[in-house]
Amino acid sequence: MPDILQFLQSRNSAPRLTDPAPDADQTAELVCAALRAPDHAWLRPWRFISIRGERREDFGEVLERCLLSRDPTADSSVRERARAAPLRAPLLMVVVATLREHPKVPFAEQRLSAGCAAHAILLAAESLGYAGIWRTGDAASDPSVRGALGLETHEEVVAFLYLGTRDSNPKNLPALDPDDFLSSW
Ligand SMILES: Cc1cc2nc3c(=O)[nH]c(=O)nc-3n(C[C@H](O)[C@H](O)[C@H](O)COP(=O)(O)O)c2cc1C
Repeated sequence: MPDILQFLQSRNSAPRLTDPAPDADQTAELVCAALRAPDHAWLRPWRFISIRGERREDFGEVLERCLLSRDPTADSSVRERARAAPLRAPLLMVVVATLREHPKVPFAEQRLSAGCAAHAILLAAESLGYAGIWRTGDAASDPSVRGALGLETHEEVVAFLYLGTRDSNPKNLPALDPDDFLSSW
């Protein structure tokens, strides 16, 4: 089996991540991979925001503040979890779908394209020996979080990609049978 196929068939997420993370040059390489996402009408319907170092703490404060706006009764453990969320990895990449009206490309296709870009970043990170996990949660659709990230009204968070070095053993991948998912018509 070609190495690249073996690689594609074994990608898996890492919930626990530590240093090091892709550096600035490597992060640019990840974005180059994302830029090859399938893209109807060449709209480039995505952009990416990196959050690393102390900025993760600032973003954690944003997440806590926005959580409290959504749920003023959130108790201290829930608040703490929100504030500490960005510290779960040394690098966060926010994948943003930048939607625009187009006669042939509905928003759904543009979101899918952004999702492909997110997947490409995960794969590219893994190809460099790093690991990651795609998370969303309530924060992803919170208008205040979007505002704090500088998103425009036509932009949406598709993914918070947590990236770094795997800090736990890779899980055993389930043996799935392609015939369960593939049929002929
Ligand atoms: C759109 C999307 C959003 C997700 N959001 C979360 C999330 O908020 N929290 C989480 O633990 N996993 C989330 N996941 C799932 C993980 O990224 C991951 O796929 C899952 O843990 C299974 O691991 P695997 O990718 O190794 O199969 C999300 C996946 C997708 C595609």
